[in-house]
Amino acid sequence: MSNNLLKGKRGIIFGALDENSIAWKVALKAHEQGAKFVLTNAPVALRMGEINKLAEHCGTIVIPADATSIEDLEKLVNQSVEHLGGKLDFVLHSIGMSPNVRKGKTYTDINYEWFQKTLDISALSFHKVLQTCMKLDAMNEWGSMLALTYIAAQRAFPGYGDMANAKATLESIARSFGYYYGIQKKVRVNTISQSPTVTTAGAGIKGFDSFFGFAEKMSPLGNAPADSCADYCITLFSDLTRYVTLQNLYHDGGFSSVGVSEAVMGFLGAGEESKA
Ligand SMILES: NC(=O)c1ccc[n+]([C@@H]2O[C@H](COP(=O)([O-])OP(=O)(O)OC[C@H]3O[C@@H](n4cnc5c(N)ncnc54)[C@H](O)[C@@H]3O)[C@@H](O)[C@H]2O)c1
Repeated sequence: MSNNLLKGKRGIIFGALDENSIAWKVALKAHEQGAKFVLTNAPVALRMGEINKLAEHCGTIVIPADATSIEDLEKLVNQSVEHLGGKLDFVLHSIGMSPNVRKGKTYTDINYEWFQKTLDISALSFHKVLQTCMKLDAMNEWGSMLALTYIAAQRAFPGYGDMANAKATLESIARSFGYYYGIQKKVRVNTISQSPTVTTAGAGIKGFDSFFGFAEKMSPLGNAPADSCADYCITLFSDLTRYVTLQNLYHDGGFSSVGVSEAVMGFLGAGEESKA
């Protein structure tokens, strides 16, 4: 259903790898809500070719960019502004990768070169995107820049490895940069802390199925699906959330505020007590 919430808005969407990607769903909904945008991903990810189907559906183009490369980002931002015919109103950073997690290195036996890559790809890249947009004056006033994160930034989640440190840095970058961007250009900067979600990045985490199930049982509403995460992203790109900035916003079915649930304790089914 379209309410044209993003009519006339222009943006860049990072991170649509395949149809399970959260960014893929955001692109579909942004298109439905009347936005124009460019899709981008790392050159290596584009080899899969899937993203071209999405671009065709959304009537747009794909511009390759490694989000750790300032040179690539400058090209991407300049070409996007040119292609879209004006400055940007929204940017989605939906990027995460840890070589340590991917290669099964445990947190207490970490490879430090890979750790730096994790931080560069999953956190510093957001700073690079923000700084590039600011230097090129590519954002319109009241624009919205958003990154996706996970609650392992605040709590210990074994298996999430150095991604937890990257997410803590990512959230901190949103606050620090958002301060300056707000004053300079009224651009808002936020992170959405999403439930575990079945995607390529999600499924790469050791024990993902178990902690997906655990979070499902802990959350009064159940895990938030990727589609609903995309809806939330759209609201943050829209004019309905103009004064929301420097926030880490939980989109997790209530998980972050629950100490323990009956379902997890195991002696009552979920919701039974409230029925009694
Ligand atoms: N899946 C989950 O359980 C979950 C939960 C909370 C937050 N998140 C976050 O959501 C975001 C999107 O992940 P997803 O779950 O949709 O998985 P995904 O694997 O579909 O997306 C991750 C994307 O990062 C891109 N990427 C990796 N290195 C890059 C680079 N150097 N330059 C540009 N792009 C690069 C990949 O190509 C891919 O498109 C990530 O930040 C992830 O940490 C995911």
